[in-house]
Amino acid sequence: MLDVTLQVARFAPDLDTETRLQDYFLQMEEQRMVLDALLEIRDLQDGSLAFRHSCRSGICGSCALMINGQPKLACQARLTEMAEDGLIRLEPLAGFRVLRDLVVDIDPFLESLKAIVPWLVLRPNHNGQMSPQALAEIEAMGVCILCGACEAGETQAGTGLAALAKTYRFALDPRDALGPERIKLAVDLGLLKWPPYEGFAAQCPKGIEFEKGLILALRALTVQQE
Ligand code: SF4
Ligand code: FES
Repeated sequence: MLDVTLQVARFAPDLDTETRLQDYFLQMEEQRMVLDALLEIRDLQDGSLAFRHSCRSGICGSCALMINGQPKLACQARLTEMAEDGLIRLEPLAGFRVLRDLVVDIDPFLESLKAIVPWLVLRPNHNGQMSPQALAEIEAMGVCILCGACEAGETQAGTGLAALAKTYRFALDPRDALGPERIKLAVDLGLLKWPPYEGFAAQCPKGIEFEKGLILALRALTVQQE
């Protein structure tokens, strides 16, 4: 068993003027995740603690938060790997407006994505099938779960990296009617002008490598169209 103290940021908009930290002590099995600890706190110690979660499998993206100052998925962060001298600090995603405790307002993030049409626009008369090769080409970017981790932080807020991942994923999809138009859209939105993003791969819970896999590929596609 692991003895661990979770230091959790608390903020109730109707009571607090600023965030405060609250300690919760737990004994957990060593293979458990940070989300397991949050659920145990909520179920057995403090039912008022607010946080988001759904799939518990790294798929829905809803449990993203700051763990010891780094954006991560709570359901994928093992307690033994996160604990520093028995302490884990949990805070809401940096740069997002806090609604309550660990819950942030992700609406502006999701709204901003609408500009790049982040869904498949099926080509007329297409049978909807695609080859394994085509699937492999978009798979690396297709794993983006819109968790917002790449947008978290003082300097990263508003980077649009998730928009880039979605642009890539759909622009290269042979079933998509917009196809190359998506690249033009990304250029118009200024998404390809940004400097290299090395280091963000470490920040993306799905391991998307923006510099190598995305920015360069999209720039190359743009050149091909000129
Ligand atoms: S690119 Fe990675 S970090 Fe950003 S929203 Fe998608 S999955 Fe999350
Ligand atoms: S609960 Fe869905 S990604 Fe963590």
